Amino acid sequence: MAMTDAGPLFHRADRWTDMEAWHRQLAEIRRSEPVLRIDEPGFAPFWVLTRHADVFAVSRDHEHWLNTSRSVLGPEEDWRQLLASGMPLPSTLVHMDDAVHRDHRAVTNDWFKPAAVRHRQPRIDELADLFVQKLRDLGGRCDFAEDIAKPYTLRVIMDIYGVPEEDEPLMMELTQGIFGAADPEFLGDAADPGERMIGSVMRFIQYFNQLTEDRRACPADDLASVIANGQIDGCPMGDVERLWYYIIVATAGHDTTSYALSGGMEQLARDPAQLFGLAGDDDAVVNAADEMIRWTSPVRHFMRHATEPRTVGGVDIPEGGRVLLCYPSANRDEAVFTDPMTFDVRRPDADRLLSFGVGAHFCLGAQFARRELRTMLDRLSRELTHVELDGDPEWAQSHFVSGVKHLPLAYAMR
Ligand code: HEM
Repeated sequence: MAMTDAGPLFHRADRWTDMEAWHRQLAEIRRSEPVLRIDEPGFAPFWVLTRHADVFAVSRDHEHWLNTSRSVLGPEEDWRQLLASGMPLPSTLVHMDDAVHRDHRAVTNDWFKPAAVRHRQPRIDELADLFVQKLRDLGGRCDFAEDIAKPYTLRVIMDIYGVPEEDEPLMMELTQGIFGAADPEFLGDAADPGERMIGSVMRFIQYFNQLTEDRRACPADDLASVIANGQIDGCPMGDVERLWYYIIVATAGHDTTSYALSGGMEQLARDPAQLFGLAGDDDAVVNAADEMIRWTSPVRHFMRHATEPRTVGGVDIPEGGRVLLCYPSANRDEAVFTDPMTFDVRRPDADRLLSFGVGAHFCLGAQFARRELRTMLDRLSRELTHVELDGDPEWAQSHFVSGVKHLPLAYAMR
């Protein structure tokens, strides 16, 4: 592959549906041009960081690299559309920097600390049991992604959020409008992904305004109440920041975790001995969950912008230059992972994964995601006696958050 043809690997949604081919090409790029400049028609230029060391270093250097409101890669035309739409500019935690970011993150931080997440374990157990029962009821054939991974991970997050079960389809719609906007299965009637994204956000303003009113009048033990009543410097959080806070918490937690579960399960169905070997071995289950998250790397990138001229991996990047942190590539870096193209639940280096990022923006929900996977894996390893693929897996089309969206399985249970 000529490096001049590499651009679509990062921005074309359909390039994320054949990950074997994608990883083969990325291995070549890591070898030959690990900090790769991309000049694509319709896009401002950017550099892709494909190595673990470079993604790690830039992510942690908050002085010289900012997130800004353009922390996801998109065509210039989408950005112009967004500005013209009157929609509030993206300002979730991932779009904030410095003290503004620190203060907003502090609003919910306690909720995501290990002790707080541990406290929710009984409820995660209950929900996992519910979906293992569903697996049993389905009688030996299912679309694991659609029947189990998606609704299970959605239910866990919505439960802590405080969104009632009947509103879960709405939250799914919002997420697909934002993350999976380019996939024809999720595009709906919209003419293009940009329009779909804007439409989704606009429709949810009303929903979240109502939620704020409810939780201010009557706070509950849930995240929605924390966000509704969140304060910055002793004053209520701004309306726009609150809206985006709801949106990120409603969307960041389930498609990501769901793709880690479905993509990991695909590998386990190809080599079930790895799954059955986990039964009753808690440490191995912990490692296996990390391996699933390393392998799938469902968040495909975030961008960072240079505050002054910088050199990364020997390549000069000018002030204002932007880099794409390529997590799936960093997670297959031969310099860090032994035999990185092999899925191995017992690999000793699984915990060096960069799927959750690193530094000040390190995934707020990482503890939840890990627990959800471990809880389900523990049960699957003990309850399943047979599992195999029952057709070809299908991949969601998105250059931002994607993974296995349909996973036909045939299985037997104890
Ligand atoms: C396997 C599942 C998940 C993956 C792969 C993932 C990945 C990521 C990544 C790569 C980032 C940006 C990190 C950086 O810039 O350094 C992030 C941030 C974030 N994630 Fe996750 N995530 C997952 C699950 C969750 C869950 C369950 C939640 C719960 C609501 C969540 C909420 C967030 C939030 C709020 C942020 C923004 C943090 C900040 O900018 O300060 N994520 N996640």
